[in-house]
Amino acid sequence: MAGSITWFVARYRHQPGAPPPPQIHGHPRAELVLTGVPLLIVAVVFAFSLRAMGKSDPAVGDRQPDIVVTGHQWWWEVRYPASGVVTANEIHIPAGRPVLLELRSADVIHDFWVPELARKIDLTPGAPRRIWLAADRPGVYAGTCAEFCGTEHAWMRILVVADSAAAYQQWIAASKAPESAQPTDSLLAQGRAVFTTRSCNACHTGPGDTPGGTDAGPDLAHLRLRATLGAGVLANTPANLVRWIVDPDAIKPGVLMPQVHLTSDQLAALVAWLERP
Ligand code: CUA
Repeated sequence: MAGSITWFVARYRHQPGAPPPPQIHGHPRAELVLTGVPLLIVAVVFAFSLRAMGKSDPAVGDRQPDIVVTGHQWWWEVRYPASGVVTANEIHIPAGRPVLLELRSADVIHDFWVPELARKIDLTPGAPRRIWLAADRPGVYAGTCAEFCGTEHAWMRILVVADSAAAYQQWIAASKAPESAQPTDSLLAQGRAVFTTRSCNACHTGPGDTPGGTDAGPDLAHLRLRATLGAGVLANTPANLVRWIVDPDAIKPGVLMPQVHLTSDQLAALVAWLERP
C-alpha cells in the first residue's frame, strides 16, 4: 500500500509546464448505484433484525408474570406469585413450557443472563422488565449476573432447573409445605431461638413462621431444597452452612452478611433448624 502511494506520487506529480488535468463533473449513474446498493443491503438487514427481535420477545399482553426475580447485591430473590413460593439463587421451571419472568432490582443495575435459555436483560431499579424463559429439555442451566454490580458481582450466579411436569409439581408442593413454627424437637427449638435472638431475622425470613423476618437477605425457608449457598459460592451442605455462618466474608469477600459469633452448640442447633428436612 505504502509502495503504491509512493509510486503514484512520483508518477503523477505536477510536471512544470504540463497542461492542467481535465475536469469532470461526476457520474450520476455510478453515484446512484454506489448509494442505492448499500442502502438496499442495510434495509434488508434491518427488516430481518426487526423480525428476529420481534420473535425473541413475543408479546406479553396483560399476562401476569409466572416468576418475579429481584436482583440484590449479590444474590437473586425468586418469587412465584401464583403459589406464594419464595426461594433464592435458583429458578425452577417446567421444561417445555415458556414462563414469563418479571425482573426487578432492589439496588443497582444487574443483568440476568442464562445463555442457553434466554437473551440477556438488565435489571434496572424502578423499571421492571419482562422476558420469556423456556427450556426444551429437563436439566440444570447455569447463569450469572452479567453487569458489574459491585465487589461480589462474580459470585452472583443463578441456576435454572428445568423439571419434568411431575418433578416441577413436586418441587412446588415441597416448597409450599408449611414448616411447623414451633418445633417439638429440642435441637430445632434451640436453633429457632438462635435464629430469632441472634438477629438472623433482622435480614432473613426463616423456616416456619419465624417472627420478624425481613427480605434484606435470602428467604431461608426450605433451604435444604437449594443446590448452593451464597449465590453459588458453596454447595449447600450442613458443613458448608457452618463455614458460611462462621465467617461469610472469608468465603465471599465483601458480602453484606455480617459475622455472628455463636458457640458451637448454637451453631449446630441453628444449622439443624435451617437445613431440617
Ligand atoms: Cu449483579 Cu453483577
